[in-house]
Parts: sequence; C-alpha cells; structure tokens
Amino acid sequence: RKRVVAFISGGGSNMLALAKACATPDFPAQIVAVFSDKADAGGLAKAEALGIPTRFFLRKDFASKEAHEAAILAALDALAPDLLCLAGYMRLLSGTFINRYEGRILNIHPSLLPLFPGLNTHQRAIDAGMRIAGCTVHFVTEGMDEGPVVVQAAVPVVPGDTSDTLAARVLTVEHRSYPLALRLVAEGKVRMEGGKAVASGTLPQADGA
Ligand code: GAR
Repeated sequence: RKRVVAFISGGGSNMLALAKACATPDFPAQIVAVFSDKADAGGLAKAEALGIPTRFFLRKDFASKEAHEAAILAALDALAPDLLCLAGYMRLLSGTFINRYEGRILNIHPSLLPLFPGLNTHQRAIDAGMRIAGCTVHFVTEGMDEGPVVVQAAVPVVPGDTSDTLAARVLTVEHRSYPLALRLVAEGKVRMEGGKAVASGTLPQADGA
C-alpha cells in the first residue's frame, strides 16, 4: 500500500475522510503521518484518536521558509512516503519542495478550478452569480491551485447561500472526491506526465457513477 503523509492546517475533515477510506479493505493507500503548520489544528487530535502519528512544524520556529520546509522534508525522508496529500494546508510549497515530490503531491481546493483559486473561494463564486460550485483534487505544481486535475465534483449554488452554507455543501463532495482521487493515483490509474494528468482506462465520477 502506498504510504501517504497528510498535511493540514485546520479541522482536518478531509484528512479524516482519507483516513476512513484507507481503513477500508483493499484500499491502496495508508496514512502514515499527519503534519500540520499549526499546533492547535483540530485535525491533529482527530488523527491521534485514530492512532495516526502527528507532527507540527510552526513557521515561526524557523528563520526562513527554506528552513521551515527543510525541516519538513527531513521528517518526510524518515517516513519515506509515496504520496503527500494536502488537506486544508494553507501554505504555498516552494518549487524546491514540490520538485522533491514531483507528481506525488495532491491538493484539494473547494472550487471548480481553474475558477476561483486562492482564498475566499465561496464568496467569490456567489458574487460571480455561479449556479454551480464544487471541488477539485489536483496534482500540485508551483502555481497556486494550478496543477492538473484528478477529480472534480459539482454542487448547486442555491438562492440565499452564504459563504458558510456553500462551503458546507462543497465539503460533502470533497469528502468523496479526495478518497477517490487518492485511490486513482495510488493505483497508478491517474498520473502526472509532462504537466498533464494522464488517465488509463475509464475513470469513475466522484459520486461513484
Ligand atoms: C477544505 O474545504 C479544503 O478544500 C480547503 O480548506 C478546507 C479544509 O477543511 N482548502 C483550501 O482552501 C486550500 N486552498 P478540512 O480541514 O476540514 O479538511
């Protein structure tokens, strides 16, 4: 089974969805550790409750972004992960970091990329008058929220939606999409080649259809 380190900054509901999928029979991946850039990320306690080892690396404990990432990379070396899953990790990785794990880092973003990258995604989707929203799991490249798409899923935007109600609806499909994307990548059914996501065979939709 592929060894995965999940990266979180917050509540960790996507990390939990991945961990639950990994606990099902025949899933091709396992979460070997959860890393955070916040000591109080809610997801850390959730991971510990499942017996998954956790580590946190606070940016302020290091003199530079390079030193912060070097410490994370050194800790990763010891774990020898096959894949890294960014799950609400609110920090941009440098090119140096990404090159070390080229084609092996996944991220989830709560919009239908390339629409609405970056922060405040849901409010911007509402302000733009979108009638659908959704999530994207993609390979991480140097541009923020720019890498090739592995899985997407859509939800409606409904009248009266606020950023919070839309975020909650998108989150429900995130929890299905990320395990599916991890499965596809871990099984080698989707890989990054020449900056594109390449699929072998017919891929399932996020809803399993
Ligand atoms: C999720 O909605 C994720 O897509 C988003 O943060 C939330 C984390 O929730 N990520 C980003 O906005 C990255 N740009 P979680 O901690 O409960 O998984």
